[in-house]
Amino acid sequence: MSEGTQSFGGQHTRRKLDVVEKYLSAYVTVMKRQSFRLFYVDGFAGSGSSQAKSEAASDDPTLFPVSDVVEGSPLRALRIDPPFDHFLFIEKDPENLSSLERTCARFSDKSIAIWPEDANEGLRKFCRQISANRLDRAVVFLDPFGLSVEWDTIRLLAETEKVDLWYLVPVDGMSRQIKNDGSFLPGAQRIDRIWGSDSWREAAVRKVDTSDDLFGAVDDRLEKIARAQQFSEMFRAHLGEIFKGGVAPAYLPLGRGRRHDFSLMFACANPSRPAFEAAMRIANHILRTA
Ligand SMILES: C[S@@+](CC[C@H](N)C(=O)[O-])C[C@H]1O[C@@H](n2cnc3c(N)ncnc32)[C@H](O)[C@@H]1O
Repeated sequence: MSEGTQSFGGQHTRRKLDVVEKYLSAYVTVMKRQSFRLFYVDGFAGSGSSQAKSEAASDDPTLFPVSDVVEGSPLRALRIDPPFDHFLFIEKDPENLSSLERTCARFSDKSIAIWPEDANEGLRKFCRQISANRLDRAVVFLDPFGLSVEWDTIRLLAETEKVDLWYLVPVDGMSRQIKNDGSFLPGAQRIDRIWGSDSWREAAVRKVDTSDDLFGAVDDRLEKIARAQQFSEMFRAHLGEIFKGGVAPAYLPLGRGRRHDFSLMFACANPSRPAFEAAMRIANHILRTA
C-alpha cells in the first residue's frame, strides 16, 4: 500500500464517491450563477485517497494493483470546476491528517481549512459560522466508518437551512445491535445517539405472530424485524422530519459484494421551493442512475 493511503471499501467506495462528485459538480455549476459563497465540508475527510479492497476482502497486497487507489472525497472536491469558494476538512486520525495536509498542499490557490477534531464538534462549530452570513451555502458529506454521527449534529445542519447533505448511513451497523430474539445489545445506545432518542426501538422489533397457534397459546416473545433495508426506510423518514427541503426518495444501498452495509442518502435543508426542487432533481437523477 502506498504511503498515506487508507485501506477500505472497493467497488462500492467508487460508486459512493462518484455519486457525491457528480452532485458537487452540478451544484457549483448551478450555484455559481448567483452570488453565494459556497463551502464544501467533509466531516470524515480521511487521508485523501484510499486503497480499494477486493470484493473478497483479501488482505493479500499482491491483489491491489496501484491503479486500485481511489481518489478520496477531498481530492475529488478540490478538483471540481468551477470550484467551491471554501473547503473544510474534518479528520481526527493523526496519520490521515498528515496525508490529507500533503494532498491539500498541492492546492495552494484554494481556501482550505483542516480541523483536526471529532466530526460532531467540528460540524457544530461550522453550523454556527455558516448561520452568520446570509449568502453562505454548503454541501456537507458525512462518510463515517460506523455509528459516529449524533442526531444533534444532523439537527443543527438541518436548522441552518443552507446545507445540502450527503450522508452514508451505517444501516447494517444499526441492525447488528439487535439480536434475532428482539433483544438489544449494549451498542444499541449508540443508535439512540444517532437517532436522537430510542423511538426507533419500537419499530425495530415485534411480537412473534402466534395467530397460527392451534391452542391459542399466549406468547410474549419478540423478534427482530429491522434489517438494513428497514433501517434505511426508517432513517430516511426520520431525516424528512427535520430537513425542510426534503429527503431524496431514492437512496443508494452500498456494501462489499452483495451486502447492504450502508445507505447513501441525500437531504436538503433549504426550505425555498426553487432551491430544493433543483437540488432534489439533480440528486434523484444521480442516485437513480448510479
Ligand atoms: C470512510 S473514511 C473517509 C473517507 C473519505 N471520505 C474519502 O473519500 O477518502 C472515514 C474517516 O473518518 C475518520 N474518523 C472516524 N471517526 C471520526 C470522528 N469522530 N471525527 C472525525 N473523523 C473521524 C477516520 O479516521 C477516517 O479517516
